[in-house]
Amino acid sequence: MFSTPLSPGGPETLALREGADPIAGDHEVVIRVAAAGVNRADVLQRQGHYPPPPGAPAHPGLEVSGSVAALGAGVAGISEGDEVVALLAGGGYADLVAVHESLVLPVPTGLSLVEAGGLMEAACTVWSNLAAADATAGQTLLVHGGSGGVGSLAIQMGAAMGMRVFATAGGRERAGRCEELGAERGVDHREEDFVEILRAAGGADVILDVIGAAYLDRNLRALRTGGALVVIGMQGGATAELNLGRLLSSRARVIGTTLRARPLEEKAAIVAGVRRDVWPLVPDAVRPLIHATYPLAEAGQAHRALDGGDVFGKLLLIP
Ligand SMILES: NC(=O)c1ccc[n+]([C@@H]2O[C@H](COP(=O)([O-])OP(=O)(O)OC[C@H]3O[C@@H](n4cnc5c(N)ncnc54)[C@H](OP(=O)(O)O)[C@@H]3O)[C@@H](O)[C@H]2O)c1
Repeated sequence: MFSTPLSPGGPETLALREGADPIAGDHEVVIRVAAAGVNRADVLQRQGHYPPPPGAPAHPGLEVSGSVAALGAGVAGISEGDEVVALLAGGGYADLVAVHESLVLPVPTGLSLVEAGGLMEAACTVWSNLAAADATAGQTLLVHGGSGGVGSLAIQMGAAMGMRVFATAGGRERAGRCEELGAERGVDHREEDFVEILRAAGGADVILDVIGAAYLDRNLRALRTGGALVVIGMQGGATAELNLGRLLSSRARVIGTTLRARPLEEKAAIVAGVRRDVWPLVPDAVRPLIHATYPLAEAGQAHRALDGGDVFGKLLLIP
């Protein structure tokens, strides 16, 4: 059983369908899903803008928690019944999902099985992009969309590793919640100028950006000399003019990444890094912020809520 649109469209196109149960191939496990995280990428996929990479299931869902229901040949260190989380290239909106053993981690101690369903995609995204920017303790990090699933975890991870964190969100109340998560200053992007605020603070060493084109020039102006802008989303468009004079004179780097379509070995290395560096921080310093849960049959309602703009953190689907 899984939830998927039959053709690209609005939230109403998501509906439960019957399908063959996945089978564990070599070095794969089948997970009985307890919770599936909802990500903005799923909305793009539903609309037909973000097709799954070759070999991935056609239905959406980039992360799950659950218990191991079956083991393929050659799996080591995982047993049937283990409570786990997994990073997926697709297929999480289901009651069962097959995934390579290297993309599976145990549920961190102190998190409920359901809560853990909202951790993997954001943890892997933030960890890999802070690494790409060579982020270190003592540096200044600007997180755009600090109210989002990725952003709310990025604030906590940055603060936990000793960074000085600034975060943008829509409205004073949401900016205030970013401060409660560990940001020194939440910036209301509707009323305040993040460039001014970051420059007054000495500039950002690292910017984690989910906006893209609309923020490119302002991001470069908010960077400190030698800083790194990591673009992971394009909510503000894909095409913009890059002021090379500004880039050269500030000796800055602009980096773009995606997680989903990376080769298995790269994703496995990221998952291993998350286990080493992030798992010890959970749940005391870092935990997924679960805004609401929905039955899998109501995945369309969850997508509507995400488009509604009131969600702070993550939504989960429960099969
Ligand atoms: N490249 C990758 O590997 C990768 C991996 C994961 C996610 N992503 C991308 O990262 C983005 C965030 O994903 P998500 O799942 O965290 O989505 P989400 O939970 O929907 O969060 C998106 C956030 O963007 C914020 N936002 C909207 N307009 C803004 C603006 N002008 N300035 C600052 N913030 C603004 C919203 O905050 P307010 O409502 O408070 O304004 C919202 O909280 C998406 O574009 C997704 O595709 C990329």
